[in-house]
Order: sequence, then structure tokens, then C-alpha cells
Amino acid sequence: MGASLAGIRACVFDAYGTLFDYASAAARCSDVLGEQVAPLTALWREKQLQYTWLRSLQGHYVEFSQVTSDALEFALAAFRLSDPALHARLMSLYGRLECFPEVPAMLAMLKAAGLRTAILSNGSPAMLAAAVAHARLTHFFDAVLSVDVVGVYKPHPRVYQLAVDRLGIPPAAICFLSSNGWDAYAASAFGMQVVWCNRYGQPPERLPGTPAAEINSLAQLPALVGA
Ligand code: LAC
Repeated sequence: MGASLAGIRACVFDAYGTLFDYASAAARCSDVLGEQVAPLTALWREKQLQYTWLRSLQGHYVEFSQVTSDALEFALAAFRLSDPALHARLMSLYGRLECFPEVPAMLAMLKAAGLRTAILSNGSPAMLAAAVAHARLTHFFDAVLSVDVVGVYKPHPRVYQLAVDRLGIPPAAICFLSSNGWDAYAASAFGMQVVWCNRYGQPPERLPGTPAAEINSLAQLPALVGA
């Protein structure tokens, strides 16, 4: 935990791993994946993120649904599990991920306190709309922002600037939440006040930026922002 944050007018959330549990897709295929659920989830996520960074460096943006599908194809091949039906099943489940259990009540508290709320994610607009609707969170968000409009992935500063532009408030008035250390540190280096939701117990990043606070569940967020 850390000290409370001052001057916050909006809370902006990363999506995958922060609001939505990306591990829930493979977990629902344990009938075929067995003990490979966890390693497949880890490699799928690792490749998905690598592809966003590599494509951003190359200037070869494609939307996140494509990157996610490509990364899954790689991960299935690595585990000798290549199968179009399994690929389709996992992609369909990725479009209907569970949100973490504390999320709805936490968002309700932020809204009751008059704070604005938004998602800022690599996810393509259709993926984010489906995830938010599936988790019945639509009414909680003032904005769902996808990197798709800037055509580059996190942690490019243009992505964090998108939230500033759309919300019309300075970076320091935004509390940014991410479970991804690299994303949290980058938003902090950009000038936002950052709460790192370190769900996965990762050590601190050796990158520019300093999160103002660290929590391990979003249930701890309202107290930090006076909600
Ligand atoms: C996102 C990824 C980074 O939602 O989790 O942007």
C-alpha cells in the first residue's frame, strides 16, 4: 500500500490482467489442456505483449485481436497443440473473459464519489466493447479508449496522451491503474499518478517512472483516491 493520492479527478484502467482475467480463457479449456493451462496462458500472454512491442517498433500495427490470435497460434504450436478448433474456442473465450471479482463494487464506489472512469487499453474497440458488456460493466465507464485510434501500442506516450486528450484533464489529475508493471511505470513516467495493482507479485521494474502506490487487489483503490 502507499499514501493516498491528491487531486485525482479520473481513474483510468488498463484492461487485460487488471480488470479482466486473461487466464480465464485457457482455464475453461482444461478438458483438453490439462496441466498445460498455466504454461499456455503464460506463453500466450508473453507473445501477445512481445508482438505489440515489436510491431510498434517496426511500424507494422495491426489490431489487438490479430496480435492475440497470432500469439495464440505461436503458443499452441510451441506446445504441439496446433488445432484450428481449439484456437477458435480459445479466441472466443478471450472475447468473454471474466472480470476480477472486486471490480463491479470498486467501480460503483468510484462513481458514487463523483470520479470519472475510463479504460485505456491495447484492446481493439470491438474486443473491449464485448469484454465490458460481458462483464456487465458498461454503465460504469465514461469512456472506453483503444490504442487503435493512435495506431501504436503501449507504452508509447501517444497512448497515455489519448486519455489526457479525451478526458480533457492534466496527466496529474489521472489515477492510472495497471497490473502490468511496465505499463504502470510508463504511465508514471508520462506524468500520471499511478497505482500499480501488482496482482501477480512481480518485483519492481527497472524502467523510468515511479508508481505512487502498490496494491494487490482493486478493492484497495477507493480508499487511496478518497472514494
Ligand atoms: C491492455 C494490456 C496491456 O489492456 O493489458 O492494454
